[in-house]
Amino acid sequence: MDFSIKTFDAKTTIAQLKTGCIAVGVFENRKLSQAAQALDCKGDITAAMKSGDISGKPGSTLLMRGIQGIAAERILLVGLGKEESIAGKDFSSAVQAIARMFSSLGANDAVVALPFDDVKERDLSWAIRSTVLAARENLYRFDDMKSKKEPAPTGVRKVAFAVPAAAASAARIAAAQSAALANGIDLTKNLGNLPPNVCTPTYLANTAKKLAKEFELGVEILDRKQLQALKMGSFLSVTNGSDEPPKFIVLKHMGGKAKDAPVVLVGKGITFDSGGISLKPGAGMDEMKYDMCGAASVLGTFRAIAEMKLKLNVIGVIPTCENMPSGRATKPGDIVTSMSGQTIEVLNTDAEGRLILCDALTYVERFKPAAVVDIATLTGACITALGHHNSGLFTRHDDAHDALADQLLAAGKTANDTAWRMPIEDSYQEQLKSNFADIANIGGPPAGSITAACFLERFTKKYTWAHLDIAGTAWKSGTAKGATGRPVPLLTTFLINRSQLASK
Ligand code: BES
Ligand code: MN
Ligand code: ZN
Repeated sequence: MDFSIKTFDAKTTIAQLKTGCIAVGVFENRKLSQAAQALDCKGDITAAMKSGDISGKPGSTLLMRGIQGIAAERILLVGLGKEESIAGKDFSSAVQAIARMFSSLGANDAVVALPFDDVKERDLSWAIRSTVLAARENLYRFDDMKSKKEPAPTGVRKVAFAVPAAAASAARIAAAQSAALANGIDLTKNLGNLPPNVCTPTYLANTAKKLAKEFELGVEILDRKQLQALKMGSFLSVTNGSDEPPKFIVLKHMGGKAKDAPVVLVGKGITFDSGGISLKPGAGMDEMKYDMCGAASVLGTFRAIAEMKLKLNVIGVIPTCENMPSGRATKPGDIVTSMSGQTIEVLNTDAEGRLILCDALTYVERFKPAAVVDIATLTGACITALGHHNSGLFTRHDDAHDALADQLLAAGKTANDTAWRMPIEDSYQEQLKSNFADIANIGGPPAGSITAACFLERFTKKYTWAHLDIAGTAWKSGTAKGATGRPVPLLTTFLINRSQLASK
């Protein structure tokens, strides 16, 4: 799908825009938006409103053809709710409805002429991003593995945003950035949805190499020998039961000033989590192919920021392997030595995410990061705590970490990809005591997502760090089973905001 900008002014009015379809807003109080008024030359739209054919309720639609006095072949009226101030969620309902209509329309191109600047507490960039993401979400299919592909989508292929000339350059940047973000989201979804016999650690490493080549990123793939030399005993213990070789991916997008400390993203890349010797129950185990969604979100975010040519130094680190049972697999009770030197008693081999992440978190110290954010489908307990609405956000509680947490929470709100902050406190750390090693890898049933974060916290003392538990948000189950692409919108928005801070 192609997105562009069309400007209008006193000379070139909206009524003169030649297009297959033009989408304009109407309100619940039966008033027309400015753009709708401009198209209502002969009163056809007013008549439709009066007749009750469209209510103006958020997301309601009415398609009209053959309207006199305008150049467009069709008008799509879409409800925006309250006129006094358009709520963000009402605008989102409207653009989702537009996206659905566009995909089944007999037109090839269309114009969206909504009041992008009038959404409460949002700006034009936000409104354009919502529209682009809704259109791309509606188009997304995953049929790579089906022998008979679904027919190529018909409907609108080219969407232009009609904005006043003064807003053109901001709109152009927003449209380009949103398309890049959508490309990143799609990559993350594809990697998540691929089956675990295809999307192996080697596949993720090859994907990183391909990205690096296409966008001129730095890339390094470490193999088992190199991980042994680095003494990543904790990460390697998780790989013992698997025949697939582990990989450790390092991606670099150095778009900022050479001396600027990088932001580091660390993604959990378990391409299949059987639980290991602490085997998971059979029902729904297929969904543990999604246990690499943290890694996929790092790759998708790199896809997005690289296409945007974001002016910021960002490093992505992905420890990736399978967690499988076998005669060589790590056993409950085994004690392993992490790269940090801390010894870990593995009381449950199904708490493997923290075992691969802790060595990656030690590894990234070498980058002297400005901030480190890890992203992981870490605990079922996080789903119990927050459901599928919010990702769990964990940091220490001091000024530097509160500031980082606030940036991530704000980015999530802007991107409609929210997180909720959870505590890290010494009282929870107590639950990780081991009789035989420095630390145990589980802390018992209470507060499972918090004790998992507390485990990671012990490996992050040398920098400012945040942890995102995306167990509840990275994919959907049931008939809608599929990756969501979250938290790529949150992460990308966070990085865009950081780059604007850095350039000030
Ligand atoms: N990958 C899982 C977490 C998970 C489970 C995410 C279900 C999404 C849905 C993780 O490796 C895991 O198995 N965690 C255990 C930890 C427990 C053994 C302390 C869990 O959550 O049950
Ligand atoms: Mn597990
Ligand atoms: Zn896991």
